[in-house]
Amino acid sequence: MSTLMAALMTTFTPSSRVGQIVADKPAASRTFHRYGIDFCCGGGQELGTVCSKKGINVDEVLSTLASDLAGQPTGTRWKDASSPALIGHILTAFHEPLREELPRLHGMLSKVHRVHGHVDQERFDRLLTLFSSLKEDLEAHMLEEEEVLFPAMMQRNTSLSTEELASFENEHEAAGDALREIRTLTDNFVAPDYACNTWKALWDGLKEFESMMHEHVHLENNVLFARFGHF
Ligand SMILES: [Fe+2]
Ligand SMILES: [Fe+2]
Repeated sequence: MSTLMAALMTTFTPSSRVGQIVADKPAASRTFHRYGIDFCCGGGQELGTVCSKKGINVDEVLSTLASDLAGQPTGTRWKDASSPALIGHILTAFHEPLREELPRLHGMLSKVHRVHGHVDQERFDRLLTLFSSLKEDLEAHMLEEEEVLFPAMMQRNTSLSTEELASFENEHEAAGDALREIRTLTDNFVAPDYACNTWKALWDGLKEFESMMHEHVHLENNVLFARFGHF
């Protein structure tokens, strides 16, 4: 084992919180994605606890994490940025693209539902209902962050009350639940061989959407909200 790997392995332990690992080393999100470890909504949990719940060996995860991080650029540590800079990044990297991506995916899903829904009607009906309500909820959620929460954070350097953050965190949880169900409904985003190009592009788009949402919610819950009294 190289000295760097040894140093990284000692940095994180089974009692490190998964959200804080990604806040310290943003590239760790890729490793956690591979193991299916939720670092955004479940970010407050200790790595050892998450691994034992999932039946994964925590030492293996720590070792993989060390080798992944040793071979990659660390990524921007938004933990070190000012709150206005972090909020600006959240708006340009997530809110603005999501405002385009949500209607685009919804349009593709409506088309695939209409043309191919008969292949598995119950599943496609559920997917369309679920995504439609997630789209509506997220659009309202982002607007409230932009009009209420972020301005409050920009104006005040002190903690916000638990109640002020709770509704946003609950909405993140609900989005996380919907994303997990979408993953199940799409067979982990693997389209059948006979799927048309729109169907395949839709599954790819939903996979990217999931990844974008994980980063988005992680930065809000574990980095931004953490500064204002979360955890
Ligand atoms: Fe947001
Ligand atoms: Fe949010």
